[in-house]
Amino acid sequence: MVKVGILGLGAYLPPKKLTNFDLEKIVDTSDEWIRTRTGIKERRIAGQEKTSDLATKAALEALKEAKLSADKIDLIVVATVTPDSSFPSMACKVQKAIGAHKAAAFDVSAACSGYLYAMTTAKQYIQTGMSKRALVIAADRFTDLIDWKDRDTCVLFGDGAGACVLGAVKSGGITADFLQSFGSHWDLMKVVSEGGRSPFHPEKTSAQLPYVVMQGQELFKIAVNSMADAIEQVIKKAKIKKEDIDCIVPHQANDRIISAVAKKLNVSKDKIFINIDKYGNMSAASIAVALYEAKKSKRIKKGDNVVVVVFGAGLVSAANVIKW
Ligand code: ACO
Repeated sequence: MVKVGILGLGAYLPPKKLTNFDLEKIVDTSDEWIRTRTGIKERRIAGQEKTSDLATKAALEALKEAKLSADKIDLIVVATVTPDSSFPSMACKVQKAIGAHKAAAFDVSAACSGYLYAMTTAKQYIQTGMSKRALVIAADRFTDLIDWKDRDTCVLFGDGAGACVLGAVKSGGITADFLQSFGSHWDLMKVVSEGGRSPFHPEKTSAQLPYVVMQGQELFKIAVNSMADAIEQVIKKAKIKKEDIDCIVPHQANDRIISAVAKKLNVSKDKIFINIDKYGNMSAASIAVALYEAKKSKRIKKGDNVVVVVFGAGLVSAANVIKW
């Protein structure tokens, strides 16, 4: 079977920073509370840039690193829960922006786990011979979904994008992947809206933008268990032991979740890449940017066994092992 690996990585973070001190002026919170309960110090806000703009910039960097022109890409998969509009897909907008005129393009929705769901999908296309080189992108303007009066949620999230080019490799690559969903918990984190424009729902009169509500403590527990389980399952599939893992790149939702996963697996936290302090939780983009920065900062080196692990609303979790 064809081995599939990462040929290039890219990321884009909008320049505007929102610090914990800025948030102190918006809601009843403190830098101390946010730092100690989550590990976050600041996050990025996209401003005028659309999700498709963030996605395009990350994609262009990934192509550059892969030394490929856009016309060599025959598949584009974008993971997002905050598209510019419900259609057309972000993948089609990116296709036009970068000039990948030979590509098939579509989006996937798996919240914070979206990047790994998209990577796993693209990998299958390459392994079956349907595609040769895929551009996988995660991009979210998650702060569009925030109720800025709700201190339980508004301190946690930020905007950004990351991308990779996948293609056939001679050795290594993605050696195992694992996907899992727990639909029975769909209610723990969701987007709600009071709507108001439909004649079929006359009881709803106030137009309101959609926003996120979540049950933080419940999510916390499930996140720890599902990410620890996903790691155990995926390393078993890759036929490696915990001691063989060189670096774990986890979803960046809360530094305390990451510590609890490390403790549950009895893995040193030194092996785990963390950048939540700079960006908060960027939904699907979190893991894409974390993988990009882990590589750039040389936390990932040639020959390393890297475990990437995520969880998100749905609930959905996923992991893969990449032999670098
Ligand atoms: N500033 C100050 N105080 C706050 C804030 C805030 N921003 N938010 C909550 N508090 C208060 C609460 O009101 C509560 O006060 P009380 O004790 O007087 O009632 C106290 O702090 C403790 O609140 P908890 O909810 O118990 O705080 P906890 O330690 O559980 O942390 C948090 C909350 C950060 C949300 C945590 O539960 C968490 O990270 N959960 C996981 C969330 C998550 O990962 N979501 C995304 C998953 S899916 C995806 O990534 C798309």
